[in-house]
Amino acid sequence: MSVQEYLDKHMLSRKIEDAVNAAVRSKAPDPVLYISNHMRRAVSSAITKIKARQILDSKGIPTVEVDMYTNKGMFRAAAPSGDLDKIYERSELRDGDKGKYLGNSVSKAVRNINEKIAEALIGMDPTLQSQIDHTIMDLDKTESKAELGVNAMLAVSMAACKAGAAEKEVLLCKHIADLSGQSGLILPVPAITVISGGKHAGNNLAAQEIMILPVGANTFEEAMQMGSETYYHLKAIILEKYGSIGCNVGEDGGLAPNITDFREALDLVKEAINRAGCNGRIKMAMDVAATNFCVGNKYDMDFKSPDKSGQVFKTGEEMAEMYAQLCTVIYFVCQTIQFVSIEDPFDRNDWLHTKAFTDLGLCQVVGDHLLSSDPKRLERAIDEASCNGLLLKINQVGTVTDAIEVAKQAKDGNWGVVISHRSGETEDSFIADLAVGLATGQIKAGAPCRGERVAKYNQLLRIEEELGEQAVYAGENWRSPEILAFTSVLFC
Ligand code: PGA
Ligand code: ZN
Repeated sequence: MSVQEYLDKHMLSRKIEDAVNAAVRSKAPDPVLYISNHMRRAVSSAITKIKARQILDSKGIPTVEVDMYTNKGMFRAAAPSGDLDKIYERSELRDGDKGKYLGNSVSKAVRNINEKIAEALIGMDPTLQSQIDHTIMDLDKTESKAELGVNAMLAVSMAACKAGAAEKEVLLCKHIADLSGQSGLILPVPAITVISGGKHAGNNLAAQEIMILPVGANTFEEAMQMGSETYYHLKAIILEKYGSIGCNVGEDGGLAPNITDFREALDLVKEAINRAGCNGRIKMAMDVAATNFCVGNKYDMDFKSPDKSGQVFKTGEEMAEMYAQLCTVIYFVCQTIQFVSIEDPFDRNDWLHTKAFTDLGLCQVVGDHLLSSDPKRLERAIDEASCNGLLLKINQVGTVTDAIEVAKQAKDGNWGVVISHRSGETEDSFIADLAVGLATGQIKAGAPCRGERVAKYNQLLRIEEELGEQAVYAGENWRSPEILAFTSVLFC
């Protein structure tokens, strides 16, 4: 091909002239930079390369990371992972070779991405999220997605979403809002873990997390300040009462004093809220994760005690009574600190007690293990009014499109939606943008401590700063942020 033929084929003279004219028209201070950006925008939108690798999550367990390349750059995402025994979740793919990471390495999932998924996605437009996600889903016809691995699918889907946002030159949260048809961006109330127990910590506390919700803050930044200050007052209280050993932290960064009774834990948190001067502006919540200590049809409140003679079994009715007391006693004795949300108060198959407790209407009842972000279990729970909040863990569903659908399903049922981290996290902050874009009003991302937890909170601080005057914090409307969506103006 001659030089002239080449120039003609690519219409180069015309394109360069257009770029120069545009720079002149805008009187760009740096015309060369302006022209290069202008030309870059004209490049076609396509995925050019996908490269996956094995990295470690916050527990030191292998997980999947993906680099997706488009003509706009490289976009990285990593899949989180939770506790094992995920019977109702879609399946992660692990190698099972006991000689490597005790069976947890993910080289098969990595290979699936580098070979099967990459082959299917290269050339696709990264802004077309649902087409990308359907293509990934179609590669594995199994219900559980065990062949491809949900860890492989999710990491690619998240990377594509980031690439799509870059292609459109909008914030990731804005791109997610567009994909979901959401009309406003809302900064969520953080459910900040301050005490860890259950399977996440080595103390005797059966309940997995005690959380604080700074609903009375005016901005997300103020919420984090209130949360962090309360956390450090709590640390000082625990130091006074239990010594420095009580200040060790659990997998999600919550403090883990060796207490057994969760009412004692809630009392410590109440005192910390008071010391922080946040009385009335911070509410309390708990993830009981009761599936982890359900034995038959009873609950073993002492399930971590090495001395099994001290087992304390409670019936579902007794558990419900305890929870009801938390909601009423805390409310009446100390009018201003309310216990407002409880997650998995009963076993994942204990639909009966979960519904009976929800019917009391004392607080938000969130289904985590109960629902496992599974649309069918969610449908049943909405039909039967078993609970009224969805804990949405994106790696339980597999792709960004599926996560958006499940969130919509819960919202259509007039439920609260909590975007959640996993106990095995990475430095990827994707869920921060997801919570803002879906305007869920709630995010659970652990303590204001440990890098993989604060990565999410720090991203929310950045989003709030970026949105400036247009930033809207869910605050008191944490369960029904739609009210705020009308007042929030989309960031363009
Ligand atoms: P997981 O814990 O990620 O270990 O499942 C989080 C939760 O139970 O909410
Ligand atoms: Zn949970």
